[in-house]
Amino acid sequence: MFSGTIPDEINKILEMAKTQNFTMSCDVETGQLLRVLAGSKPNGVFLELGTGAGVSTAWILDGMDKSSKIISVEMDEAVQHIARACIDDERVQFVAMDGGTFIEENLEKQFDFIFADTWPGKYYLLKETLSMVKTGGFYIVDDLKPVDSWPAEHREKVKDLVETLEGLKDFHIVRLDWSTGLILATKGDAS
Ligand SMILES: C[S@@+](CC[C@H](N)C(=O)[O-])C[C@H]1O[C@@H](n2cnc3c(N)ncnc32)[C@H](O)[C@@H]1O
Repeated sequence: MFSGTIPDEINKILEMAKTQNFTMSCDVETGQLLRVLAGSKPNGVFLELGTGAGVSTAWILDGMDKSSKIISVEMDEAVQHIARACIDDERVQFVAMDGGTFIEENLEKQFDFIFADTWPGKYYLLKETLSMVKTGGFYIVDDLKPVDSWPAEHREKVKDLVETLEGLKDFHIVRLDWSTGLILATKGDAS
């Protein structure tokens, strides 16, 4: 769908998410960014860590071409059930498991796009996750802008993550003061 429109599934997902008090879905700005990036990877292979209720999945799918595929991993089956119920698209494979286990069991896989929206792949197993990004591929994280309610340990975690990403030799990164605060990284050619 090419336009400023919101993917059809989102309203239903948000209604169902409300019944489970699930409030961690990405906002429209992050969704739009994910959709644009997804559109730049024809025939791409995508990974999302942290399906949640499927809002970000719907945005990514909206940008993906017909032959692209996405795996979306979530530990909480009840919340991922919303995504399964609302998104009917053969390009997505929903996986219900711990994201850390998924990473450790799939280290040989290579992705054009990884949206790391949960603890594993972001605050731990970062090196392993970055190794799963293809040359020219994207690694994307959000929720980096400090929020008053964050405990001190979380502030430290975010600071460490940003510093680590900024220090990477094999990625170009950009910090975006957009939505909840994102970092977009692309893997350079190692040769
Ligand atoms: C920020 S929410 C995801 C939101 C979703 N990507 C979106 O933007 O619509 C993070 C999700 O990670 C899930 N989660 C937490 N720990 C996890 C783990 N170890 N493995 C997989 N998923 C996990 C939570 O249940 C939650 O649904």
